[in-house]
Amino acid sequence: MFDPKVYQSRRNSLRSKFKNGILLFPGNMETAMNYKANTYHFRQDSCFLYYFGLNQPDLFGIIDIDKGEDSIFGNDIDIEDIIWMGNLPSIAERASLAGVTKTLPLANLATFLQHPDNKKRPIHFLNPYRGETIVQLQALLDKNPVQLKENSSKELAIVIAQMRSIKEDREIVEIEKVVDVAGIMHTTAMRMAMPGIIEREIAGIIEGIALSKGAGVSFPIIATMHGETLHNHHHGNSLKQNDLLIIDAGAESELGYASDITRTSPVGGTFTPQQKEIYELVLAANLAAIEMAKPGIFYKDVHLKAATVIAEGLKAIGLMKGNIQEAVQQGAHALFFPHGLGHMMGLDVHDMENIGENYVGYDNTIARSSQFGLAYLRLGKKLETGNVITDEPGIYFIPALIDLWQAEKKFTEFINYDALKAYRNFGGIRLEDDLLITNTGCRVLGKPIPKTVKEVEAIVGK
Ligand code: GLY
Ligand code: MN
Ligand code: MN
Repeated sequence: MFDPKVYQSRRNSLRSKFKNGILLFPGNMETAMNYKANTYHFRQDSCFLYYFGLNQPDLFGIIDIDKGEDSIFGNDIDIEDIIWMGNLPSIAERASLAGVTKTLPLANLATFLQHPDNKKRPIHFLNPYRGETIVQLQALLDKNPVQLKENSSKELAIVIAQMRSIKEDREIVEIEKVVDVAGIMHTTAMRMAMPGIIEREIAGIIEGIALSKGAGVSFPIIATMHGETLHNHHHGNSLKQNDLLIIDAGAESELGYASDITRTSPVGGTFTPQQKEIYELVLAANLAAIEMAKPGIFYKDVHLKAATVIAEGLKAIGLMKGNIQEAVQQGAHALFFPHGLGHMMGLDVHDMENIGENYVGYDNTIARSSQFGLAYLRLGKKLETGNVITDEPGIYFIPALIDLWQAEKKFTEFINYDALKAYRNFGGIRLEDDLLITNTGCRVLGKPIPKTVKEVEAIVGK
């Protein structure tokens, strides 16, 4: 954990944005996988981690605006817990690590929230995203799931999104540590990318690296020769010479911070001329975004710049045609680049997505587009110093989408469907880096991970 003062200061800063009421932070509980005692890997709620830091299940945090005090509700262990889990610190000892002096048993939380004095006050909570938390809040606040959603605090969501979007230096240090872990994961995958290897052999080894160096992976690993399926979690294919292997994988630090890196490698060690051509376009788009990202610029404009680089490149090799500015404006490039350029990253790999993507990525200056492709852009608003974001352009050849658009005669003025036949089994290429927005531009976080054609070819199979 960080110093207790860090959590106190974050809570005080949050407190200062509210006039009165109670801010309620449910920590996560253990979730059963296939029976109650066999649970999924425990992951604390990220807002709870940010303001209270404690990484144990079954805790609630309260920030009382009117009284100016914070408390943690949780149960001390009993003799049975000691037998099975050892002698764990008391709730009071744990709470002191977060700078909280007031602790109460969990059973007192309902009494506290239902007290007539407190029921009169606004109780701010975020829209719960876990079934267990919904059930807990339903009982505590006497609201059904629909009411919980309707009554969740927009004000709290907006203020938290503002605070967590600007990373403290200590958070950058944490993130950079796990970008470096991702670097080891990715270079290991590149070394393994040889014919005959099954995707899961690579996925298993690199997940082990994440576990051995921190808290495991920050999201389920994508390790696939079918990169054209964007979030492909099937790992059963055997790699063949000249397949393209996309690895999209990151690690989580012990304090819960994420990295999110993508690299694409030529199985066997050499890109074919066709692959190399497309790879260079994705790389150019990734580099153009690095060049452009700085405070005050809309990330939507950076996305559109990356889309333009991709579309111009595709025109140069004969897959697109016509006026490229118009093609991008109308969304024709989304046949090849159907997702957003990136998202915020921090305690969550898609940072604060539980709060509501539009609170994090959009604001009153810019609304999310409904255009196919652009609608998937999670972050469109102006960048600020201290943001940590991803830069992840890609080019994919998705046969079902090509067939659909061709049958619909969609964008025939911009897309050369005949020329696309030679790319039908190409798969996809994506490159992803994690960027810190600085005062004047941006910095690619972590030690460099092989990214140019030359760098990647030099390590595959070695
Ligand atoms: N790893 C999922 C993403 O890049 O957004
Ligand atoms: Mn990713
Ligand atoms: Mn990402």
